[in-house]
Amino acid sequence: MKNFLIILTIFVISATKIEAEDSFSGNIESKRFCPPSNSSTCQYVPFYVVSDSTKIQSDNYEITSAKRDENVKGFKFFYDGDGLNPNVEFLPIKLSQFFPKLMFYKVNYQGIKSIKKVNFEGLTSLENLELKDNEIVEIAPGTFDDLYQLRSLNLFNNKLKKIDEFLLKNNQKLLSIDISMNQISELAPKTFENQQELKELSIWSCGLLAIDENLFKNLNKLEELDLRYNEFWQLPVEVFNGLKNVKFINLSKNKITYLDERIFNENKNLEKISLYQNRIHALSSKTFDGLKKLIIIDLGWNKCIDKRYGSWDKDELLSQSKINEMKTDLDRDCK
Ligand SMILES: *[C@@H]1O[C@H](CO)[C@@H](O)[C@H](O)[C@H]1NC(C)=O
Ligand SMILES: *[C@@H]1O[C@H](CO)[C@@H](O)[C@H](O)[C@H]1NC(C)=O
Repeated sequence: MKNFLIILTIFVISATKIEAEDSFSGNIESKRFCPPSNSSTCQYVPFYVVSDSTKIQSDNYEITSAKRDENVKGFKFFYDGDGLNPNVEFLPIKLSQFFPKLMFYKVNYQGIKSIKKVNFEGLTSLENLELKDNEIVEIAPGTFDDLYQLRSLNLFNNKLKKIDEFLLKNNQKLLSIDISMNQISELAPKTFENQQELKELSIWSCGLLAIDENLFKNLNKLEELDLRYNEFWQLPVEVFNGLKNVKFINLSKNKITYLDERIFNENKNLEKISLYQNRIHALSSKTFDGLKKLIIIDLGWNKCIDKRYGSWDKDELLSQSKINEMKTDLDRDCK
């Protein structure tokens, strides 16, 4: 009887263990894919779709049940439940041993907590990486080092507190970066140093308290910059100087009190600027001088103008320029 109980206990323990173990399954499906590097070459390609019975709760999980297939171009986690998938907390390691030619890696609405280099090692063809709506707190330095072809990186809505200054050093072909909805209060000056091809940068709702004057220095192809819903109250005079091609800058819902009149001097291609809902109380009419392409300025919901810091004449600005839409309540003088 005693022996039977021991055997039963062992059986129960090992059965529980089996249930807690990680597991992986999925299928190859044909899906339409347009590589970000050339969207005119859309085609149906084999995607590996990970099923929602998959469970990965160890950060060293290695797939054992897939076959090596160089034709597979996409890898995607599927989850049909509400909220985030509670079963997938980490990505598999050494994926490139199975799918060395992956171009597209999509892991949205999972419960991913952290990522590291061994998750992406060898994925030298990867162009599009989507990790939005996860719970990533940490990205280890070097994680993206092998992703030389990466064009689009989406880390929207995670729990990042920090981006390593050299995280993107090898991703020199990036066209689009989205790190919005994280809790990064500070970005090191060289974070985007090698992103000279970048066209779109979204850093909204990140709790940014300040922006280093060199952060955007090399982004001379950037067209759209989204800095909405942050916490900064001033901007260095030279912060936008490198943005020779920028068309839209959205600075709405920050705490900006004052803008130097030279701040947009180098942004000759600027078409739309939003400073909606800040705390501006001083603006010189010269702030938008020479911006011949500017058509929309949104200065709505700011403070009254304190003329001690420069004169502001809305009608003069409108009569001199091509601006066809200007919202402002800066025509009130401070009492
Ligand atoms: C995109 O692909 C098409 C068809 O293969 C090719 O003709 C074109 O030159 C490519 N464009 C770029 C920017 O690589
Ligand atoms: C800037 O952001 C605000 C708030 O999200 C939005 O309402 C506005 O349309 C944006 N402005 C431009 C010019 O994109």
